[in-house]
Amino acid sequence: MLVLGIETSCDETGVALYHTREGLLSHVLHSQTDMHSEYGGVVPELASRDHIRQVLPLVRQALAAAGRKLEDLDAIAYTRGPGLAGALLVGASIAAALGFALNLPVLGIHHLEGHLLSPLLSDPAPTFPFVALLVSGGHTQLMEVNGLGKYVLLGETVDDAAGEAFDKVAKLLGLAYPGGPALSRLADAFSNSGQPRRFTLPRPMLHSGDLNFSFSGLKTAALTLIRAHGVTEQTRGDIALAFQEAVVEVLTGKSLAALEKTGLTQLVVAGGVGANRQLRASLSRKTEETGAEVFFPALEFCTDNGAMIAFAGALRLQSRHAPHPEYDAFAVRARWDLEAAARSPESAGASPDRAGIDDRS
Ligand code: KG4
Ligand code: ZN
Repeated sequence: MLVLGIETSCDETGVALYHTREGLLSHVLHSQTDMHSEYGGVVPELASRDHIRQVLPLVRQALAAAGRKLEDLDAIAYTRGPGLAGALLVGASIAAALGFALNLPVLGIHHLEGHLLSPLLSDPAPTFPFVALLVSGGHTQLMEVNGLGKYVLLGETVDDAAGEAFDKVAKLLGLAYPGGPALSRLADAFSNSGQPRRFTLPRPMLHSGDLNFSFSGLKTAALTLIRAHGVTEQTRGDIALAFQEAVVEVLTGKSLAALEKTGLTQLVVAGGVGANRQLRASLSRKTEETGAEVFFPALEFCTDNGAMIAFAGALRLQSRHAPHPEYDAFAVRARWDLEAAARSPESAGASPDRAGIDDRS
């Protein structure tokens, strides 16, 4: 079965073709980063308009790269939520229109399920069950993943997401959008591992006894340092380093605690912050020490992409939760709880009870 995947939840238009036997045939991406950087963050209305411009050319490009035609498709998967409502509606409407025109099933996929399953696209891939650390711009969660649609939330951030904190602190340091990767590069440039650190920031909730996170205090701590020391090149680097070390230590500590609590030995890291080099190094080192195994999706699958949506769609199509072809899939969910979606699988399929935006979380 050949599945077309369409991702338009935020500022990346991703399109991919996944074949249940042959694997990932093609995936193409258009990033809106340059467009939004002028404004220092994602402008939702501009994002929607750009998705409209990009999505059909990208569909043609993905088909050409795989040597397939629209008529070869067996299903269409799109990101139903969570994300920016207007941006989601672009993917949803294109998917619904293609499904209607080609008489194909249309599957609305949970964006975080896409991220959770994306490590399975890599080789070697983890096997169920595993613990997933989901660290993106909008989410920071630890999930126990027992199979497709079997997700147990172990802990999550009580305020900012890790990526959001990276982006906000980067902005305070005067770094260009998107700040996360820029802050990380700056921190790496100033990290001389033998050297004592000039600043140490708190490790929020590291010893809270649960698997929750909090990152908004780090933002304030960074701001206090900036006010006290100004933003010279050296100070910016020292703050970036202190911030990155604090976040990495907390994410590492909680991930190991989640493995211990569940008794599982595989850890999967997904979401944009999973691209962070220090986080990768720290998790690799610590899991090795404890005899566990850590899996990172290929960098291109860490951030938003169409491949994870096509792949999640293909798995859902093959599972007993497969939805029936319906053409009223023109519905998105700007806020959408993954555990709740998994408990009622039909809500993760293509049967919304009404068209439009469903803002229930
Ligand atoms: O998963 P993603 O592409 O989009 C969603 O939020 O769904 O994640 C984007 C987030 C942004 O906050 C970005 O700053 C962060 O991931 N990010 C990083 C790095 N690369 C991306 N954060 C820290 N270090 C990085 N190397
Ligand atoms: Zn994402």
